[in-house]
Amino acid sequence: MSIEVRASADGFAGEVLGADLARDADFPPVHGALIEFGVIVVRDQRLSPETQIAFSRRFGPLMGRRPSASDNVLLTGFPEITLLSNRRENGVYIGNADAGRYWHSDMSFEEEPNLGTVVYALEVPPVGGDTVFADLEAAYETLSEATKQRIAGKRAAHTFAKHYHEIMAKGSTRPPLSAAQLAGLKETWHPIVRTHPESGRKVLFVNPGHTVRVEGMTEPDSQTLLESLFAHSLRSERLYRHEWRVGDVVIWDNRRVMHRAETYDMDRYTRHLHRTSIHGDRPY
Ligand code: SIN
Repeated sequence: MSIEVRASADGFAGEVLGADLARDADFPPVHGALIEFGVIVVRDQRLSPETQIAFSRRFGPLMGRRPSASDNVLLTGFPEITLLSNRRENGVYIGNADAGRYWHSDMSFEEEPNLGTVVYALEVPPVGGDTVFADLEAAYETLSEATKQRIAGKRAAHTFAKHYHEIMAKGSTRPPLSAAQLAGLKETWHPIVRTHPESGRKVLFVNPGHTVRVEGMTEPDSQTLLESLFAHSLRSERLYRHEWRVGDVVIWDNRRVMHRAETYDMDRYTRHLHRTSIHGDRPY
């Protein structure tokens, strides 16, 4: 069957039709579609953990764990796969039940943030639990010339501590970090405008979840600028909302998009996804 790539009816994502991610020959068009669209959807897949890992590794080496994760969120026997799941065993969540419910680019607080993320849906709620994506390439392109000049060559600090302290204050399902992990939550500086290493296009690389300040600015000025960049990025014409179906694989390029997972009725429904994360380069 030949592979067709088409733009989604709503938003900026691409849908890849006729691909089987277990087949090596299907990787080049899937990779091409990811670079073109930033988020791609491949429906009706049946991926074993081994196949998902092998497919994900074709993009590059896989990331280690997030600083917030602990062994109980990894798929048994497959430390490359994080469970995004509200299934419980003996009353305890087997996965990250409330992961990603904030706007972020995966691991932007690392020196070499996540290149991309591959998520495979095994069980999904009939309502809620969507994942929403924002296109930060379009966000950069549509900034005013004055703002482009204002942020040119500037860097911003990213840290996981921002989100971690917010969710712990609200009551998260995830286990708290150890004192050593907390001490390791440093700030990392990245260019506000990064160049996508494969497309060569410019991307606004800040996100509300992890970006805390702009270099060389007072705290109030830095906050005002960041808030205006976040608001600009989240205008509705730059969003894609993914409503999950069982068998969906969604792949996103963290060098170009940010995303947020939405809530659902966790007492009534199960959402169970397998996530692999691909190691990226230092932004420039
Ligand atoms: C994440 O941010 O990795 C979670 C995404 C999701 O569960 O939709």
